[in-house]
Parts: sequence; structure tokens; C-alpha cells
Amino acid sequence: MSTFLIIQFVLLFYDTKCSLTTDYYMKLIHQETLKVLTSVLPEQNEEFKGADSETTNAFGTYDFVIVGAGSAGSVLATRLSEIDNFRILLLEAGGEENDFSNIPGLGPLLQIGDLNWGYSTTPQKHSCLGMKNKKCLIPQGKVVGGSSSTNGILYSRGAAKDYDKWAEMGNTGWSYKHVLPYFIKSENSQVDGDVGYHGKGGLWNVEHTEKSPFFSRLVEASLELNLPVVDYNGKDQIGLGLTQFNMKRGKRQSLGTAFLDGARKRRNLVVVTRALVTKLCIDLETKITRGVEFIHRNQTFRALVTNEVILSVGAINSPQLLMLSGIGPKHHLEDLGIKVLADLPVGQNLIDHPMFSGLRIHTQDSIQPPDFATMVEEFTHAFGPLTKSYNMHALMFINTTNISDKLPDVEYIFVPPSGNNEARMVSKIFNSDNKLTQFLEEINPTNDIYVAVVLLHERSRGTVTLKSTNPLDFPNIDTNMLAEPEDVDTFIKGIEFALKLFETRAFREINAEPKLIQFCKEFGQGSRQYWECALRHMTLTTYHPCGTTAMGVDGTMSVVDSKLKVHGIQGLRVVDAGVFPSSVSGHINAPTVMVAEKISDDIKREYGFEENTEGGINHTEL
Ligand SMILES: Cc1cc2nc3c(=O)[nH]c(=O)nc-3n(C[C@H](O)[C@H](O)[C@H](O)COP(=O)(O)OP(=O)(O)OC[C@H]3O[C@@H](n4cnc5c(N)ncnc54)[C@H](O)[C@@H]3O)c2cc1C
Ligand SMILES: *[C@@H]1O[C@H](CO)[C@@H](O)[C@H](O)[C@H]1NC(C)=O
Ligand SMILES: *[C@@H]1O[C@H](CO)[C@@H](O)[C@H](O)[C@H]1NC(C)=O
Ligand SMILES: *[C@@H]1O[C@H](CO)[C@@H](O)[C@H](O)[C@H]1NC(C)=O
Ligand SMILES: *[C@@H]1O[C@H](CO)[C@@H](O)[C@H](O)[C@H]1NC(C)=O
Repeated sequence: MSTFLIIQFVLLFYDTKCSLTTDYYMKLIHQETLKVLTSVLPEQNEEFKGADSETTNAFGTYDFVIVGAGSAGSVLATRLSEIDNFRILLLEAGGEENDFSNIPGLGPLLQIGDLNWGYSTTPQKHSCLGMKNKKCLIPQGKVVGGSSSTNGILYSRGAAKDYDKWAEMGNTGWSYKHVLPYFIKSENSQVDGDVGYHGKGGLWNVEHTEKSPFFSRLVEASLELNLPVVDYNGKDQIGLGLTQFNMKRGKRQSLGTAFLDGARKRRNLVVVTRALVTKLCIDLETKITRGVEFIHRNQTFRALVTNEVILSVGAINSPQLLMLSGIGPKHHLEDLGIKVLADLPVGQNLIDHPMFSGLRIHTQDSIQPPDFATMVEEFTHAFGPLTKSYNMHALMFINTTNISDKLPDVEYIFVPPSGNNEARMVSKIFNSDNKLTQFLEEINPTNDIYVAVVLLHERSRGTVTLKSTNPLDFPNIDTNMLAEPEDVDTFIKGIEFALKLFETRAFREINAEPKLIQFCKEFGQGSRQYWECALRHMTLTTYHPCGTTAMGVDGTMSVVDSKLKVHGIQGLRVVDAGVFPSSVSGHINAPTVMVAEKISDDIKREYGFEENTEGGINHTEL
């Protein structure tokens, strides 16, 4: 996370003599960084324009068609293709991952690069007020591995109580006791975590980056406030924990890399990239799913299924595709002239994790980053700044009303200073307006700590709706963050607790001091109105959209049942972050993977094959 300086360094040091790999990475970073920083986000799905829609070509018949090779789709395709008898087609709109996208330290650039769909919110009323046109960006990966190929690679599962709540809502089989084995199944943990909570033989690697002196200071401060140091993916989540990342020897491990790369060698799995699915083909009378239509290389194809279509295109695109195919809120579909197959609350329960990005703490402690060539050299040896995703060093989870409650309501992401001036990049990924950009430019890159405050269980709900019936148009995404006053209250309690942390002895030693946000100054620094102003200007998303195709008992409040089958339609499941019925207390990639692991077993069982919970693969070589 060092773009601005990287550009300067690249220009200065481009000719230094380096090893072959270092030289390769320096060139690559130079090219890609410039490309991203000068790029403009698309307004539509341009690359699929110009397809011939007159003729539809047959693409064969499969047992399963999985749409979307993201976090969930990659896991499903891998697990289902363990059964030799299943013939599977996996369709993905994006292309392949590359060496650049696998550098954790440059992950922020992927949010605005060409592996991203390019979505933003509709103009917001209650949040995003510091962004151009009051729109926050909503990045989503458009590449094999999906958002796991462009995300912050934080590995976090949430609280046990989150899943017990899913079960209490009527979703049989989703309590913590039932889902824990599936978290463990995928994991190959290299961290010294709590015994009984981690997998060591799974496909997906989890590791730490090297500890910094900053972490020791945080530990001291936490202990002073009676907060323990924990493995937040283990027995107790409340407290401070060193970040766990999905990487392997310093490089990103997306679900594309960890799962799909191996499975793609199997003869019963066909993967087509740069294939945009535009429609699900469902029988009007019988409501049986027959297949999908997609655009690939400017041609229109139809693939048929004997068993099921599994939709795994993510919490934004799954609702879009369902609505385009006649599954969604009746009135909304009728307004657009779409024939209604099932009247369901598709896109109606958008949940995210609002994240306040305005808490910056100035200190007297300063760091000096290595020069660019050294950073790249270190990366090739699996350490240093380029292995550090967003430079996130530690997470803390607390409940702001009751410190001994096991269900947190706020999370902190601690980011020590990187030493590099990142204002230009950050302002682009925030879409910040002039006055917010000015605040970002005032941040001292060598001395200032950033604490992102994340609201784990927002009350506000957003929506995903159709802009038009054109599948190449982007959907309307209204996150509606901070609409409920209670969300602002919890946030302010969260900010107040964070400030206490910086008043401990450990941080007084380096004169820690919160930075003033000039454009909210009129409200009086530290007042409730001051923080509310800051919140409404500088709250964006943690990029965790979910809940838009929620699971539940019937079609009034939910879209799919507890086996993730769409209510009232045959042969159609949705398996992605959209199915979460309520929020989880952490980052949502691992929970999405868990969902896909669990449903893979359910599907195998349903079609007469032994499920495979323990991860002992016996059907085909991985
Ligand atoms: C910038 C960012 C940072 C994040 N950081 C973290 C983090 O640090 N830790 C964490 O746990 N979570 C993080 N997340 C969230 C997490 O990565 C996602 O929630 C998770 O990957 C969602 O998985 P999914 O399978 O639901 O969707 P995705 O992984 O997004 O997969 C959907 C796939 O479907 C494809 N697709 C979409 N529409 C179509 C179509 N019509 N036809 C064909 N293919 C289509 C997409 O191209 C994509 O590959 C982050 C997300 C983002 C965007
Ligand atoms: C599709 O057609 C458009 C316009 O005819 C063209 O610009 C584009 O390169 C074609 N795309 C592919 C993948 O062939
Ligand atoms: C705080 O949480 C603990 C543990 O869940 C519980 O026993 C206690 O009653 C809670 N206290 C309050 C004031 O809610
Ligand atoms: C926080 O603690 C309170 C009081 O113990 C409890 O009622 C609540 O469920 C906890 N979690 C959240 C997310 O509010
Ligand atoms: C795996 O398959 C082989 C051959 O089909 C069989 O002999 C063996 O018992 C199987 N192992 C397990 C663990 O199921």
C-alpha cells in the first residue's frame, strides 16, 4: 500500500541492478500502478457490447451449471467435481488472476482496476457525504476467484452467536456447532491458534505477516483496558488479535488459486472465462430451471442442465440476474415489464459493514519505509510491506454496551503508518470530494495511525434494484448506510472506546493525539455533532455486501430455503454472500466459503453420493 511513493521510486530506481524476479516485479508494478491511477471506472458492462443476439448457439447439456467463479463458485466447482459422475460447467464473466493481483500490499489498487466491476452506490442521504456526488464505490471482483482475488485477504469467521442466530431464524443446520466443521475443512492454518478450532490439512492457507513493535504497544494498551489478546477465529473473539491472512508465503491465496486451480485439471469440469450470463432459462408453466444464456466472444450461447443451475455471482449480481429472469419483487418487475415467475424480496435486504475511516491518530513515533527496490526484493522473499494487505496489523472486537458480552458490535482494524504518502490513491478509491481529499492530504504518512471502525450489525438496510432490463447495465445499489440513528449511536460509542485506547500509558508515551477533521470543526471537536459530521462524511463500506437473497423459511422475508434453493422454483440454488440471513461479526469471505463447503455436501448427499465433511478427497486427484 504505497502507490504514490512507488511511482516516485520507480522513476528514480528503475535502472538499479536487481535479480531477475525483482526486476520483473518492479516493471510489473510500475506498469500496473500507472494504468490503474489513470483509469476511469466503467459505467456499463462495455466489454460484452456488440454481441450477436440474433442467433443462440447450443453449448451442450450438463448436470450442473455454476454461474460465477468467485469465492463460493470456486469452492462449489471444486467440491462437486470430486464426483466423477457429475458433469459441470462453470461460467465466469472475468478473466484470470495475475502476478500483480497476488501482491497483497497493492490490493487497494485492485478496487479501481480492471479486475473490478466498477460499481458505485446511488447518491446517499445519510452517509458518503464526503464523496463526489455522495457516491461510495462498491468494488466487486470480476476475475476467476471473484472478490477473493481482489479483497483484503483478512481471514475472519465471525462469532459463534451469529450462526446460532441463523438457526434460530429457522435455518436448520446452520448453528455454530454445524458450521464449525466446514470452516475447519477448508483451512490450512499456519497460525498458532486455539486448539480444536483450526484446520491444518485444508486447501486454503492462513498465515500471519511479521509482528511489528506497534503490535506490542497495542497489546499493552489493550491489557490496560482489560482486553485479552485472542485468536479471533478461535474460542473467544472479544479482544485484540494479530491479523490472519489468506496468503501463502507472502502471496494472496484466492479461492481461485487455493481451490479451482487444482480442480480445473479434471475432465468433468468445464470452465469458461469471459462469459457473461445474461438470463436464467426457467419454464413458465412448470417453474423448472432448464439452463442459462450467456455471451462469450460476441456470441450468444445456451447451456442446458439436467440437475441444477447454481447462481454464485455475488450479493450484487445474483439479485440482478434473478430479477432479469423474473424472480423478484412483483411491482418492481412489472414496472419494467418483466414477466413474474416468483414474487420474492430479491435485493431487499442489503446488509454491509459500514466503516468509519476518519479516525487518525498522530504520534511522535515515526517509521522509515524501505526503498522501492528493497521492498520488491523483500516481497520475493515473502516479507516486508508488499506482503501486508492494506497494512492491516491487528483486529479488535468488542461489545460497546457490555465488555463481557461475547457478541461484538464493533470491530477495529489497526493500521500503523506505512511511511508512504497514499493520499492520491486513497482519494481515488474513496471517490472523495475536495474537502475530504484535503483531510487525506494532511495525514502524516510516517507518524499517523489509522484505526478503521467497523459497525458489525447495522440496523439500516439497503437495496439492489434494476436500472433497466438490459443485462449490460449496472444495477442500482443503495446501501442506505446510517439511515437508522441507532447505527450512529453505536458508532460513536465505538469511537469513544478507541479514543480511550489511545489514552493508555502505552500510547501516551508517544503522545498519541486524534487528528482534527477541519470541515466538522464548527461542531466543536469531540462533541457528538462533531463525530456525527465525521461519520456521515467518511463512512464507506468494508466491501461486505450480503443478505440480498437471504435464506429463510418462506417467500415473504427470504429468497432461498435452508438448502439455498429458490422458493417456488425447481433446480435453482443461490450460493454466495447474498444468502446470509443476518450479519456476521467479521469479514465475510471465510463465511461465504463455509456456506459453499456445506452446501456442496448437501448436494452430494441429495444426489446419492457420500458427503465428505472431513476433507478426505478420494474421487479425483487434486
Ligand atoms: C475490495 C474488497 C475487500 C474485501 N476484503 C475482505 C477481507 O479482507 N476479508 C474478507 O473476509 N472479505 C473481504 N471482502 C469480501 C469478500 O471478498 C466477499 O464477500 C466474497 O468474496 C464474496 O464471495 P461471493 O462468492 O459471494 O462473490 P464473488 O467472490 O464476488 O464472486 C462472484 C463472481 O461471479 C462473477 N459474475 C458476476 N456476474 C456474473 C455474470 N452475470 N455472469 C458470469 N459471472 C458473473 C464475478 O465476476 C465474480 O467472479 C472484500 C471484498 C472487496 C470487494
Ligand atoms: C466484439 O465486437 C466488438 C464490436 O463489433 C469488437 O470491438 C470487440 O473487439 C469484439 N469482442 C470480442 C471478444 O471479439
Ligand atoms: C453482559 O454480558 C454478560 C455475558 O453475556 C451477561 O451475563 C450480563 O448480564 C451482561 N450485562 C448487561 C448489563 O447486559
Ligand atoms: C452487546 O451486549 C448487549 C448487552 O449484553 C447485548 O444485548 C447485545 O446482544 C450484544 N451484541 C450486540 C451486537 O449488540
Ligand atoms: C478411496 O478409494 C479407493 C479406491 O476406490 C478405496 O479402496 C479406498 O478405500 C477409498 N478411501 C477412502 C478413505 O474412502
